[in-house]
Amino acid sequence: MLITRHAEARAVLDDAAYVPLPVRQDGAEGTLAWLRARVSRFSTGEIHAGRRRVLVELLAGLEPAELRRAAAAMTAERDGDWRGVPTAVLASALGVEDTDAVPADVPADVPADVPAAASGYLSGEETPQADAAVARLLTLAGVPVITLLLQGHAATEALIETALRHAEPGDDPEALLDETLRQDPPLRATRRLDTRTGETVTIDLVAANRDPDVFADPGRFDPTRGPSPHLTFGSGVRPCPAPGHALALAAGVLDALLSASPPPRPR
Ligand code: HEM
Repeated sequence: MLITRHAEARAVLDDAAYVPLPVRQDGAEGTLAWLRARVSRFSTGEIHAGRRRVLVELLAGLEPAELRRAAAAMTAERDGDWRGVPTAVLASALGVEDTDAVPADVPADVPADVPAAASGYLSGEETPQADAAVARLLTLAGVPVITLLLQGHAATEALIETALRHAEPGDDPEALLDETLRQDPPLRATRRLDTRTGETVTIDLVAANRDPDVFADPGRFDPTRGPSPHLTFGSGVRPCPAPGHALALAAGVLDALLSASPPPRPR
């Protein structure tokens, strides 16, 4: 079933009878499949609640304003080459640094290993490259920290990339990000399994975020709209636990880029 209306999407996301699609539990230790079987994102019930609690505690130790400042500083230091900045800032805040000190044939390399592992984290596509990246990351950090890095990586970069396409001189980074999240979201859909019927439900986040019952003139990209009840960070039982962190990382990059040279791009 495909859900496109905002109210129906919220009803599914609020209902614990809808769960994430199951992932395989028999992956060899240290592989991507093994990791996916151990993270909050794909677990349910009490196990999900316990795993999620650990992540929320880790996130509570990070200060969004500091993430924003660090992301802006690193983007400026790299002369605007912002790719990898959100992940590098988050990794450093979580105490993960690249290191040659850990004995390993091939030492972990956060800027390369996080994207490689993240590429299959949500889709479940298992590749030797993703497995090797997970194994290397496990020499630096435990499953909860790796979860945060992999969950955040692609969505935050996609948000920045899309926001830059919409940016106009003088735009306020936060307003630009809010409207990008609503109108052109980095995550286009999320899926659930209805445990009562066995049916798979796809929630079309783009359509729900443009539901005319909720958003006036929904197709128009309007950064002056103000914060809106978009569903891009999820809702209900298992929303993104890090919307403030994601926004801070993205806003920091935009602070540096938009103040350096406002990009006069068409909307
Ligand atoms: C623009 C960036 C981001 C977007 C749009 C986003 C969106 C989401 C959404 C929609 C979910 C729920 C998925 C579902 O219901 O199926 C989710 C879960 C999650 N997100 Fe984010 N996220 C972003 C950035 C981040 C960042 C930077 C972090 C880490 C610092 C993070 C950590 C997580 C975690 C750990 C979960 C799983 C929560 C759970 O299992 O209960 N996200 N995210």
